[in-house]
Amino acid sequence: MDRDVLDQLRSLINRESGIYLPADKEQLLVNRLQKRLRACGVKDEREYLKIVELDASGEELTRLLDVVSTNVTHFYREERHFSILTDILKDLEKKGQREIKMWSAACSSGEEPYSMAMVARESLDSRRTAVRILATDISERILQRALQRHYVPAQLTKLPPGLVKRYFNAESGAGSDLRSVTDDIASLVTFKRFNLSKFPYSLKGQLDIIFCRNVMIYFTLELRRLIIAEFQRLLRPGGYMFLSHSENLLGISHGFKALSTAVYQKPEGVRG
Ligand SMILES: C[S@@+](CC[C@H](N)C(=O)[O-])C[C@H]1O[C@@H](n2cnc3c(N)ncnc32)[C@H](O)[C@@H]1O
Repeated sequence: MDRDVLDQLRSLINRESGIYLPADKEQLLVNRLQKRLRACGVKDEREYLKIVELDASGEELTRLLDVVSTNVTHFYREERHFSILTDILKDLEKKGQREIKMWSAACSSGEEPYSMAMVARESLDSRRTAVRILATDISERILQRALQRHYVPAQLTKLPPGLVKRYFNAESGAGSDLRSVTDDIASLVTFKRFNLSKFPYSLKGQLDIIFCRNVMIYFTLELRRLIIAEFQRLLRPGGYMFLSHSENLLGISHGFKALSTAVYQKPEGVRG
């Protein structure tokens, strides 16, 4: 194992994705790299680093980021956030809003944005209020999986049974126990590759709700500061930001109001 090469790979990963792999996670990196070393037919990390650096198309870099990103997720993760989301959506509709824009900013294999879409269908009158959900992730591989929208029953156990019944179809085919998210729910969600560590963000502002959960734990405080500032800029006054229960805004100066655990609101009347 060549420490110098591994350090160069760690810096490259950090520069390109914001993912910070501390030196004591070296073995994790080595394990995850094996898949790419095999796929590229190279004997060690040094040869592999050369391939990534010389690949002008950026494709091998994408594959590298695919293997180093941690994609663990599930439907209705941090369940309480979805009951808070229900209240927020109902309130927005009651106040007369006719279109609600949400962003799942590290969506992994789709469980988070599809959960948001199901909650929207349950809480809002679709004849009155349109919903659009942008779901983004840095990993091409995981976005492909999200687009397939197939899940095994074990992945649905945290969802209320009513939602499973209304928003999943059983996949036909011998021996298949897959469930697929309905076309209606899928139609609310647009998936796109997006890197949270590259600024400024190319998105249009005036979002109502941002979910960015269980990804900033892999970033440095400096990067988290920049991300939070972008979220603040992109949210409309009064908009909401959801982080995960294991993340907070400690050490970050911001203008958000804390509403509940890891739920924040941009005050009304604040622009930019
Ligand atoms: C642990 S999953 C979180 C999924 C979901 N938000 C949740 O809470 O269950 C973290 C996701 O962040 C993505 N990710 C890592 N670095 C990223 C970056 N720089 N930009 C966008 N997504 C990134 C990973 O590919 C992964 O799918």
